[in-house]
Amino acid sequence: KRPAGAPDRSLARDVGKVGVVGAGLMASQLALLFARRLEVPVVITDLDQERVDKGLAYVQAEIAKSVAKGRLTELKAAKLRTLVTGTVDKAAGFADADFVIEAVFEELGVKKKVWAEIEEIVSPETILATNTSSLSVSAMGADLKHPERLVGFHFFNPVAVMPLLEIIRAEHTNDVTLATAFALGKQLKKSCVLVKDAPAFVFNRILTRFFGEIYNAIDLGTPLEVANTALDPLGLPMRPLELLQLVGPAVAAHVGKTMHVAYPERFKVSPSMEKIVAAGQPLLVDDEINPAVV
Ligand code: CAA
Repeated sequence: KRPAGAPDRSLARDVGKVGVVGAGLMASQLALLFARRLEVPVVITDLDQERVDKGLAYVQAEIAKSVAKGRLTELKAAKLRTLVTGTVDKAAGFADADFVIEAVFEELGVKKKVWAEIEEIVSPETILATNTSSLSVSAMGADLKHPERLVGFHFFNPVAVMPLLEIIRAEHTNDVTLATAFALGKQLKKSCVLVKDAPAFVFNRILTRFFGEIYNAIDLGTPLEVANTALDPLGLPMRPLELLQLVGPAVAAHVGKTMHVAYPERFKVSPSMEKIVAAGQPLLVDDEINPAVV
């Protein structure tokens, strides 16, 4: 069954090579997922060799873990290892890519600069995807020569296990691009949903409000451990502060501020949030809550 809003599958283009801009945690997880599910070459790039090497090391370590867990045969692992490569030379790495996804710093200016550079390298047919978690995809594509091939492709951490994939149709995204995005999402074995190009889309819009209410409870004097454990009867897979740690307090705060600008009445910037980000240390130590943080 075709997902709601997805164009005719026959429009989808084949993807024989993938480029990943960025070699951070999200980008490295994406590189591994694409290589594993599509079985095509995947090239990662970043600003310097050190970052690229760190991303590649993550991919190799995850492959080794999968072998150790018996989820991947040695033969498949050997193939997978050769599929993911890295370079600082985007021109060499991406020239023949059919699909390029970026997972760089969550700042509109940074992402626009990345796309301007990539557009000089790739063919006008190459599909461009952004893993932005909160920014406007239409704004990101505004200065592209071919904005019709840009689409939002928003994954969740940990990429290997979270089933949801938010696909965002920007103002200029055409049906070929959208059909390719849905076809790829299916190959990646994700549950694809088409969401509006609105600040933080759907998942992060709700999650940001969720974190906001936890912070607000702490602002009002609720002890950290109470705010963290009050929802235990719901049986969520992670307690709120564990989830916050997984996302990264600074990343969550960044999204929170984007939401505050978009909807000042509904999304507040909280003093506890600022303190937790400024503390720059894990919120939870040995599974115990560290009350010294707030
Ligand atoms: N990479 C690869 N696999 C991972 C992984 C990772 N980082 N973390 C966990 N897994 C795998 C484990 O290997 C395990 O697989 P097997 O059963 O095959 O061995 C499986 O996931 C379950 O893991 P665990 O048994 O260790 O732990 P768990 O049952 O507690 O599950 C969890 C861990 C899947 C992370 C679960 O706690 C969960 O779903 N948490 C919520 C995560 C969430 O909400 N993420 C969204 C964050 S928001 C975001 O990402 C959006 C944004 O833009 C900021």
